[in-house]
Order: sequence, then C-alpha cells, then structure tokens
Amino acid sequence: MIVVQWDSGPSRNIAVVFENAPLQEYQKNPSMFRLEWGPIYYRGRTDGSARVLVIGQDPAADEAVARRVLVGTAGQRVQGFLAKIGITTSYFMVNSFLYSIYGQFTNPYRDFMDISPVRQWRSDLLDALIAENNIEAILAFGKAAHHMVDSWQGAAVFKNQNKVFYLTHPTAGIKNVFQSWNANLQTVAQKVNPDPDAGRNLSTYSGSNFKDSQLTRIPLLDFGFGAPEWMGTGNMAMRLRRNTTTIPKKATKYPSKILWFAPNKT
Ligand code: URA
Repeated sequence: MIVVQWDSGPSRNIAVVFENAPLQEYQKNPSMFRLEWGPIYYRGRTDGSARVLVIGQDPAADEAVARRVLVGTAGQRVQGFLAKIGITTSYFMVNSFLYSIYGQFTNPYRDFMDISPVRQWRSDLLDALIAENNIEAILAFGKAAHHMVDSWQGAAVFKNQNKVFYLTHPTAGIKNVFQSWNANLQTVAQKVNPDPDAGRNLSTYSGSNFKDSQLTRIPLLDFGFGAPEWMGTGNMAMRLRRNTTTIPKKATKYPSKILWFAPNKT
C-alpha cells in the first residue's frame, strides 16, 4: 500500500510571518532577483517538531516548480547529510533569499540582506521558529547562510551552546564540500538526537563526487498534496536562458517535458 504523505502548509504562526515577507524590497531590485518565479519560502516541519534548522542560499529551478526550498541536487545532498546523522523529517529549511539570485553571493547581495526590513523579517521568522521548536543544531550552508546566522541576534544563545555549524554550500567545489562536511559530521551528530525511525551512518565523504547512496530523496511529506512520486529524486527542472529557443541536451534524456513560461518580472 502506498502511504500518501504531504505538507499541508505552514502553521498559522509561521504563515503570518510569511504573509509579511518584505517582497517589495526584492521587487525594487529586479536586476538582482529572478522575480518572475516568485518567492519560495521553506521546506519541512512547522508543527513544533523541527529539531534541526537548515539555512541555504536561494532557490533554483526545481524549487520554483515544487514551491519548496532545497529540493533539487543541493537539497538531496543536504538531505543525505541529515540522513547520516539520523534526521529524516525533523527539520525546517529556509534560504537566505526568498527569490533566486543572479550569479554568486557577492557584496551587493550581502548589502541587500542588511537592509533593515529584510534583516528584521529574517529575524522575525527565526524567532517565531525557535519559539515553537526545540532546535538542537543550526546548519548554515554557504556564505549567505553564514551571514543570515550572524545577522540574527537570536543566534547568540545557539552559538554559546556550540549548536551553530557553518558548512560549505552543497553545490560549491566538491573537495571543499567534502572537507567541510566531514569535519563537522561527528560534532553535529553529537548535538542532534536521531529521529525514531532512523539509523546513523557517520562514514565520511570521499572521491570526486557524491555517490548515489549519499543523496537522499526529499520525502513526499515535504511537498504539497498530490506531488508525483519522482519529485524530489533528481535534478528535474532547468531554467533556460532568456529568449532561448533550443532545448538543452540534458533535457532530451527525458521523454516527457513541460515547458513552463513566466511573463516578465512582477
Ligand atoms: N536550492 C535552494 O533552495 N537553496 C540553495 O541554497 C540551493 C538550491
């Protein structure tokens, strides 16, 4: 029997914070953000059962389709890291930016994060989250996430308890990712109680890429009702360059495709 699972959306308290997101600040900066794909807010538990807070950078194409963060390649790598420490579902994930950014996290993006309403909103979200959850560890993946933690006053108490971990972003250079994740695996595991249904596997990462066994599918529990079974298992969406008319080679491998269009920036 197939167990049907889905995410019915954020809890009321978290939804209220989301409803007050500073979208207009993003909309003032159309050259910095891919506004046309809309804001993407979170993934995971908002019912008080989150014990790991994961912070990423910004959403890519798979996230734009699923309306949840960290569901493509980066997400499956992070999910694999969580699986190693025995966390299967007890997490809450957010990105440092609600919209997809162009290129890398550079100083203008850091400055944007520091705009008062933008910074304040992130604090409101994290404050609301820690008020309702017993967060055992904060995992900040990449430089933007690092800045998100450091610009949040509420982080101090977690830092004092050595519960904040700055990790290399999952899609940075593999060598750096493996070095960083291996260096933190044991200490993160010491802070976090495994989920009841989970085992632990603290074997380290090695070689030139992630092995299939080190990628973990995103649980259907994290998507809206009715998501297809394959969602969360691969890197299934790609953004085409503006005005591109040819289908990229990678996409030809899949027999079924939907071309998804967005009108100009909103
Ligand atoms: N997708 C996300 O949602 N966040 C990242 O940091 C990378 C990919």
